[in-house]
Amino acid sequence: MTAQRWVLAARPDGVPRLSDFRPEMLDLPPPGDGEALIRITHASVDPGMRGRLTGDSYAPALGLDETIESAGIGEVVASRCARLPEGALVTGGFGWTTHAISDGRGVQVLDPALFRGRVRPTAAIGVLGVPGLTAYFGLGDLGRPKGGETLLVSSAAGPVGATALQIGRELGLKTIGIAGGGPKRNYVLEEVRANACIDYKAQNDLTEAIRREAPEGIDIFFDNVGGAQLDAAILNMKPGGRIVISGQVSEYNQETPRGIRWVTPFITKRLSMSGLVVYDYRKRFPEAQARLAAWIESGAISYREEIIDGFAELPRAFIGLFGGENFGRRLVKM
Ligand SMILES: NC(=O)c1ccc[n+]([C@@H]2O[C@H](COP(=O)([O-])OP(=O)(O)OC[C@H]3O[C@@H](n4cnc5c(N)ncnc54)[C@H](OP(=O)(O)O)[C@@H]3O)[C@@H](O)[C@H]2O)c1
Repeated sequence: MTAQRWVLAARPDGVPRLSDFRPEMLDLPPPGDGEALIRITHASVDPGMRGRLTGDSYAPALGLDETIESAGIGEVVASRCARLPEGALVTGGFGWTTHAISDGRGVQVLDPALFRGRVRPTAAIGVLGVPGLTAYFGLGDLGRPKGGETLLVSSAAGPVGATALQIGRELGLKTIGIAGGGPKRNYVLEEVRANACIDYKAQNDLTEAIRREAPEGIDIFFDNVGGAQLDAAILNMKPGGRIVISGQVSEYNQETPRGIRWVTPFITKRLSMSGLVVYDYRKRFPEAQARLAAWIESGAISYREEIIDGFAELPRAFIGLFGGENFGRRLVKM
């Protein structure tokens, strides 16, 4: 069996380039006792992968010549593993590869009770996977929301941001998004059904634009972007406000991060800021997935996927995240 995979060819300097990735053929042995062969159908591209291409993150750096890591969905095509029956749809961190041999560790068979109706199998690496779980635990645990409060979310049209806004609405918050460009703003207003959305690319002064939408101030800022957007939010926080650091996508390609300019409001307004690593909540994933699936089934929460065709497109699909190309959860169909 010959698989194809993408490996890290060079450590990116700034925004990754196509030459930082190299496709390779890989001979896979037949599955041994206790193993299964999985054909990957979809792989994810995630902005958070960027850090480990250059150095250590919350997990060690990816090595040169190693398979690029990502979440995936696959089908078991041959099995000598009781946990992974032939024909089962599974999810796991398979990486950018067309096939994988697995002994079942870190691989979950999709539960047909959860993945039905509006909850498509690809949701396992989207709204029911890391992006949706990040929104759920970031907002619910670190944001400490109370009904009637005001929630601001950056990268509001992305899978984490759009889910955080919708969970916020379900919890009775006033919801405001920040997104880049008119089509994304319209999506956040019409499909995500946020109370307001600011197209940051159309603003000269983002701090003022937030103030116009939330003259009463922001109780929770769920930040996916960092940099100038984080500063504009800090200046609009209410006393006792909570800032949840989910991601800092505007900083990931900077050798020297821009950082935070406004720190004094943390004192004067007793603000707090907490960082999230979603994997810390692993034991509670089933609880969150059941709740998210119920919200989706009832129509309370929607999700948008953008599926790009072809294994060859993986690096391009990933690089495009940093130019705002993706519109929803970007997956590559292998
Ligand atoms: N903490 C955790 O455990 C955890 C887990 C998963 C994800 N995350 C983080 O959550 C955040 C959102 O992830 P996601 O998967 O939903 O992806 P996403 O928000 O769709 O990320 C890509 C989007 O980020 C925006 N963006 C890219 N470069 C930018 C820049 N230089 N300045 C401003 N905006 C920029 C663009 O949206 P616009 O077109 O709207 O600008 C782009 O479409 C990421 O930062 C990710 O690292 C954290």
